[in-house]
Amino acid sequence: MANNINLGTAKSVKNDEFYTQYSDIQKEINAYLEYNPDVFRDKVVLLPCDDPEWSNFTRFFAQNFERLGLKKLISTSYAVESKRFKDYEPTLFETESPIFDVDKTRTNGKIFILSRDVNQNGHIDIDDLEFEYLEGDGDFRSLEVCKLRDESDIIVTNPPFSLFREFLNWIMVAQKQFLILGNFNAIHYKEVFPLIRDNKIWTGNKNFGGGMDMIMPKGTFDPTKLKKYRIDERGNIIQNIMGVIWFTNIDHGRRHEPLSLMTMKDNLRYSPHKEVKEKGYPHYENYDAIDVPFTDAIPSDYDGEMGVPTTFIDKYCPEQFTIIGCAEGDSGKSLGLKPFDRELKKLNKSLRDGQLFYMDNGMPIKPYSRILIRKK
Ligand SMILES: C[S@@+](CC[C@H](N)C(=O)[O-])C[C@H]1O[C@@H](n2cnc3c(N)ncnc32)[C@H](O)[C@@H]1O
Repeated sequence: MANNINLGTAKSVKNDEFYTQYSDIQKEINAYLEYNPDVFRDKVVLLPCDDPEWSNFTRFFAQNFERLGLKKLISTSYAVESKRFKDYEPTLFETESPIFDVDKTRTNGKIFILSRDVNQNGHIDIDDLEFEYLEGDGDFRSLEVCKLRDESDIIVTNPPFSLFREFLNWIMVAQKQFLILGNFNAIHYKEVFPLIRDNKIWTGNKNFGGGMDMIMPKGTFDPTKLKKYRIDERGNIIQNIMGVIWFTNIDHGRRHEPLSLMTMKDNLRYSPHKEVKEKGYPHYENYDAIDVPFTDAIPSDYDGEMGVPTTFIDKYCPEQFTIIGCAEGDSGKSLGLKPFDRELKKLNKSLRDGQLFYMDNGMPIKPYSRILIRKK
């Protein structure tokens, strides 16, 4: 893809420092409100791993405090000295505050709280945010941030992708509602997939297509390595990053819209995919299921198990399908996928135990990344 980068590139260039646009937060939150207008009413919302002075998460929730009916907004940041990227200037908001501390501004996390009409103008909004330094550096795993988590009802953020597993677990053990960004590949993680399979978490309202335009603070990326980007008014690079998706356990309408599908007979005749018309739906050799190479080619009338691309999760409607498991590595082995025999491995060196394969003209074929589903 000429115009986007993937997170592998992000990692190799500079870590976890990319930020979310206001419009993406707004669009996503609106979908939950459309489904349930009271979803945030009387709730304490925590935004950890944020940079409240300029983050769009803090700005969005503070500006919409009254419209959402929030009880309290808490936003915390990670100390610049603990970050890998240390280029940082305190904002005027902080330096002009009577509690400004020239050391703490670098070594401590910060906490911003919004819960009352501080300036007595009759509204609770962004101008009523109150700020303090945290005791520690604002690590989400610290005791003080864990206490804030326990006090909150809903956690919303773009967490450090390098700590995604740990961050999601941190939410799940506390049994909180959440909306967070993550990498598409996280769907396969052994800590994540079972939660999706069991409908404990799901992906967000925004579909997987097109990646997401993210804000790269000045200096975190080498622009000469990027193909196409724009610069915002603060000099930040806005770059499309592939594979950034929302994960949540807050309900939204899109996940209850069933896919409109053709029967197997009609797919074999009219599918827009040449592969389906020519090859049909091969049966796997090592598991009792058929291979479906495209989500829109899932046959509506097939009652058995089907291997579908992982991107199916974007269209998954729990009233329409049951997810059986992930046919990858250890998860595949635990589903009972039979191992390859040695002779077949000679024909196709990419075959791996724990993955599905079918035969095509005497050659073993391993389809790319499948999950197993069954119609309800
Ligand atoms: C992907 S950025 C997103 C920031 C912001 N919420 C946004 O999108 O506008 C993740 C942030 O988490 C911070 N971070 C990294 N490790 C952390 C930790 N252990 N605890 C808290 N924050 C951390 C990073 O420094 C970075 O600022």
